[in-house]
Amino acid sequence: MTLAGKRILLIISGGIAAYKSLDLIRRLRERGAEVRPLMTRAAQEFVTPLAVGALAADHVYTDLFSREDEQDVGHIRLARDCDLICVAPATADLMARMAHGMAGDLASTVLLATNAPVLLAPAMNPAMWAHAATRRNVATLRSDGIGFIGPMAGEMAETGEAGEGRMAEPLQIVAHIEALLDDAPKPLKGKTAIVTSGPTHEPIDPVRYIANRSSGKQGHAIAASLARLGAEVTLVSGPVTLADPVGVTVVRVESAANMLDAVTAALPADIAVFVAAVADWRVATSAANKIKKKEGEGPAPLELTENPDILKTIGHHQSRPHLVVGFAAETADVVANAQAKLARKGADFIVANDVSPATGIMGGDRNRVRIVSKDGVEDWPDLSKGEVADRLAARIAKAF
Ligand code: CTP
Repeated sequence: MTLAGKRILLIISGGIAAYKSLDLIRRLRERGAEVRPLMTRAAQEFVTPLAVGALAADHVYTDLFSREDEQDVGHIRLARDCDLICVAPATADLMARMAHGMAGDLASTVLLATNAPVLLAPAMNPAMWAHAATRRNVATLRSDGIGFIGPMAGEMAETGEAGEGRMAEPLQIVAHIEALLDDAPKPLKGKTAIVTSGPTHEPIDPVRYIANRSSGKQGHAIAASLARLGAEVTLVSGPVTLADPVGVTVVRVESAANMLDAVTAALPADIAVFVAAVADWRVATSAANKIKKKEGEGPAPLELTENPDILKTIGHHQSRPHLVVGFAAETADVVANAQAKLARKGADFIVANDVSPATGIMGGDRNRVRIVSKDGVEDWPDLSKGEVADRLAARIAKAF
């Protein structure tokens, strides 16, 4: 319940992305937040106040001149009785009015009267987002201290046009709100961390590559947990389909060689956690052109050569981080193998997991790990990957 007791005023303005705001209300409430909804007139053309009110389990505020609402709560209290105002979707029109301090309806009046942090999730046609007028308004709002999430690039709901203008997904907005409202202690403030995550792709030719089943879920979660504890995190990620964690610098790479370069470039650091499932081998010389099938001949042989071991390189580096953590994905003799890796790779501890297909860990959402260090073996229970990440970040913080 990361948002327990937090009061969020959700302003829904008029765009097709308003349908996603229904889900946003659920996701916020799932995390313990109280959501008070406010809709502009245009928003009510896209989703009904009935649906919004039912999901929020609260009255929906719509009208600046509603006698009942004014007597009951009033627009000034609406603006003040909250920990954060989130505008999702935020239209070009509402942003323009905010940038000019206009207060012609309930939403703009509340936004002018508030002293709570404000987060906008813009959604509009890409041409409107790119327009010079919108650029000016966004710059003004940013310098006024208004926060933004998105818009994202992708396909537009109405026209099928592609470009920047899609509203951020509800879970991305939730993660951003969690980060903004997080008042937990920051034991890793002032510390820097490098995390590797995901698989690597080792090219065979321009269209083919060698890869593995790593999803990046565990590595990304660890980067997010370290950032939540105040660390300045660089996440070096192989190709994954996950959203970038909030508050983390993400460097995207393809191959093990690229990953080593990116990790080395991020040194010095206080902490390094190597979660990536780096390919142990690459094709010795990847072909410049697509390798063609030749009738009657067998497949072209692939000569493999060993990749650099990133953990081992950094574990023995002259700028070795104070704390180096490795992972060990094993399918047998989990602890014995992890102990051997600990010494060989120069890690302070190894997070060992059994990735036999029956465990469902590879690509799944849960993990069961053992922490192997020179002090012994800790057996952790079956946890979500997010919980493993939080525990690991707390353990890292304790080491400082
Ligand atoms: N690792 C790395 N670079 C590599 C290979 C592995 O940084 N080229 C890191 C992984 O991120 C992980 C740890 O080393 O933290 C263990 O990886 P794993 O593949 O389990 O170990 P290997 O050294 O490949 O040993 P084995 O193949 O015997 O399992």
